[in-house]
Amino acid sequence: MGGALHNRSQMMQKTTMKLEAVVFDLDGVITDTAHYHFVAWRDIAKELGIVIDEAFNERLKGVSRLDSLRLILAHGGKADQFSDAELETIATRKNEHYVSLLSDLSPADILPGIADLLQSLRQGGIRVGLASVSKNAPQVLAALGLTECFDYCADAAKLTHSKPHPEIFLTACAGLGVAPENAIGIEDAQAGVASIKGAGMYAVGVGSQLEGVDWLVPCTSYLTLPALSAHWADRQQH
Ligand code: G6P
Ligand code: MG
Repeated sequence: MGGALHNRSQMMQKTTMKLEAVVFDLDGVITDTAHYHFVAWRDIAKELGIVIDEAFNERLKGVSRLDSLRLILAHGGKADQFSDAELETIATRKNEHYVSLLSDLSPADILPGIADLLQSLRQGGIRVGLASVSKNAPQVLAALGLTECFDYCADAAKLTHSKPHPEIFLTACAGLGVAPENAIGIEDAQAGVASIKGAGMYAVGVGSQLEGVDWLVPCTSYLTLPALSAHWADRQQH
């Protein structure tokens, strides 16, 4: 019996993994730029004679600019009507519109609880990463005054795959020097949750309709370091 207990404690030690890093999505987790992406795409789609609503927009979250445009055109039955050069021009127009909507972005636009969480992670010696496929991520972090809070930001321009592919979360973990199984990923999009799980990380979802998450919170104010640590520790026991 003593042997069995000994083995059990050895097993617990083996399965207890330390939380070493938290990797954040940007749009919809750190700030609500997801809404600005929607407004910009809605206006561009309208010019193309295509109507998109907030429900359709859920499918665009975490999806790169060009892939988003392709999804919108397919939705409007216009998938084959544009050359690659025309797609680039439309995507650039959308981006200019999106960037103009961002002009008033300030630290007041950080979602509830996130600034405190970033500070607690730094104080707790837990590394902080960013996994956003947005090429505007550096400007958005700067406008929010958060650049210094991140130890490593994956460079969207260097990625081959959009979410749901795990590449971006794996890249962020590698940049932080942390094994994915020792890291939490936080996402508001289904494609992002799939990316986190594909990378072998613990997935925290923000929202109401996300499948496959390890912990789902209705909004970012639930994201405190004590709460994250408690959920992380809890999963070690299962
Ligand atoms: C994020 C957003 C997507 C957006 C993508 C690319 O993942 O959730 O809606 O399409 O970034 O953003 P960008 O700023 O490069 O157009
Ligand atoms: Mg997002």
